[in-house]
Amino acid sequence: MSRFVVEFGKDGMPPAEEGRLDAPAFHRNHEAIWAALAPFLAAKTGEVLELGSGTGQHAVTFAARTPKLTWHPSDLQGSHLASIAAWRAFAGLANVAPPQCIDLSRPDWTWTPGGPLTAMLCINVLHISPWAVSENLIAGAARHLAAGGRLFVYGPFMRDGAHTAPSNAEFDMSLRTRNAEWGVRDTRDLSALAGARGLALADMLPMPANNFVLAFTRRPKPG
Ligand SMILES: C[S@@+](CC[C@H](N)C(=O)[O-])C[C@H]1O[C@@H](n2cnc3c(N)ncnc32)[C@H](O)[C@@H]1O
Repeated sequence: MSRFVVEFGKDGMPPAEEGRLDAPAFHRNHEAIWAALAPFLAAKTGEVLELGSGTGQHAVTFAARTPKLTWHPSDLQGSHLASIAAWRAFAGLANVAPPQCIDLSRPDWTWTPGGPLTAMLCINVLHISPWAVSENLIAGAARHLAAGGRLFVYGPFMRDGAHTAPSNAEFDMSLRTRNAEWGVRDTRDLSALAGARGLALADMLPMPANNFVLAFTRRPKPG
């Protein structure tokens, strides 16, 4: 079982009566993330799977802006799955599916009901999990994305072996001190993983506070 740097609801805002948790970072990052997703997603139809959804605020907010897409939030932590369910009920949106338990530390993870995905989204997960989670996310994107589908990953990243800001270097050090398996990932390593699995790192969009949205595209399968 993974250990968590964040268990929402343990500090900060108490949960709403119905169990909705609040992630302070959501309020700072969701508009910038949406600006990165919208050019690809806004006019699309189909299914979007979010991994490590946390409170559920991103999935519900983005679903409200994309009525032709169905969003499938997921996490592996019980309190987060309950919060996602509570946000889903609160929003009352027909295009948000019930949360499902997906553990990215499992190489064979899958999603329900399955089938080719228009997009996948993973926000602030890869630096607080072992490298195997990155490997399994990319491998899962190769298995589950439709040809031309996109995997969007948000967080702090290194570029070609270098941190993009001193604050990210300090953050990386603090993460590795807490857990030797965690750390800010390098886009070069993620790009190599993706290339080996039939995906391409198509875009690296700078975000506020030295974060990025990485967009990986699923190449058509040969034949
Ligand atoms: C920092 S939180 C980010 C949550 C949410 N994406 C957000 O930005 O508000 C990291 C999330 O990753 C989840 N997580 C950690 N390890 C995971 C794993 N192996 N598989 C799936 N989710 C995981 C945690 O439960 C937590 O909800």
